[in-house]
Amino acid sequence: GLVNTKEMFAKAVKGGYAIPAFNFNTMEQMQAIVQAAVETKSPVIMQVSKGARNYANGTILRYMAQGAVEYAKELGCAHPQIVLHLDHGDTFELCKDCIDNGFSSVMIDGSSLPYEENIALTKKVVEYAHKFDVTVEAELGVLAGVEDEVASEVSHYTKPEEVIDFATRTGCDSLAISIGTSHGAYKFKPEQCTRNAQGKLVPPPLAFDVLHAIEKKLPGFPIVLHGSSSVPQEEVDTINAHGGKLPDAVGIPEEQLREAAKSAVCKINIDSDSRLAMTAAIRKYFDEHPEHFDPRQYLKPARENMKKMYIHKIMDVLGSNDKL
Ligand code: G3H
Ligand code: 13P
Ligand code: ZN
Repeated sequence: GLVNTKEMFAKAVKGGYAIPAFNFNTMEQMQAIVQAAVETKSPVIMQVSKGARNYANGTILRYMAQGAVEYAKELGCAHPQIVLHLDHGDTFELCKDCIDNGFSSVMIDGSSLPYEENIALTKKVVEYAHKFDVTVEAELGVLAGVEDEVASEVSHYTKPEEVIDFATRTGCDSLAISIGTSHGAYKFKPEQCTRNAQGKLVPPPLAFDVLHAIEKKLPGFPIVLHGSSSVPQEEVDTINAHGGKLPDAVGIPEEQLREAAKSAVCKINIDSDSRLAMTAAIRKYFDEHPEHFDPRQYLKPARENMKKMYIHKIMDVLGSNDKL
């Protein structure tokens, strides 16, 4: 069945790699994630946001994830390691509902709350979750941009001097931190970036000094990076070449994610890159086949393109391949 994050994080921290956490809302995303994980022999976290539950229905997504384990076996993986994780849970009730309904891991995101309230809420979720062997991700520090429904104008890096107190008092299993990543396909404003010779935006580097200070305070403790899509230029170009309009989209350079994955960062969240891969393939297909209207015709290349992206992240960026 589904597994929690405990063992896979311990192995990832020791092994100097990171587990991919891919969001899913559709069957094609689920299939592409499972195919990629099986082909690369990688553990994987399939995560569901509140928005995903609203879009697709929580029960359907839960059974899809349970089906994903069976699907992985059918594809020849004897012992798949698949986590079903709630992404950005914002209340105890939402986390409880997921824990009561088959999720093996939840995130309680109290990062927008005052420190003591974040601790109290997180601790309450941890106490409930651990009764059922469900692991809990917490967040300290605020990411820039729109965080699900929690909007924040500015980012506040995680304060290294708070992490020991926070982790000890909440009992959380992993900690999402803020070191300069943000959600979506527009992670930096053009004025925060420089431009390279081709006129493309080059974002400012992540705050690795903050990450290293946190690692020093909590040696071996699983750290999570949200907002880690790299917004591949190739996909943005394909979208824009086929009627799309994504000017100045910019993500986190993969070189920096590669570096983060070697540290205590053991979970890297990617959603936007999947959206871009899907949209690029569909836009291109529609342009090239205006006479087609069977969804299977255009969802197949969309699924293939997402699978290619997932495999690339696993093998060339996070290093979680051959870890089953
Ligand atoms: O945190 C953001 C994730 O990319 C999920 O996005 O809330 O639109 O499903 P969503
Ligand atoms: P991206 O928008 O960078 O893919 O981040 C996804 C994420 O953090 C989901 O929680
Ligand atoms: Zn996130």
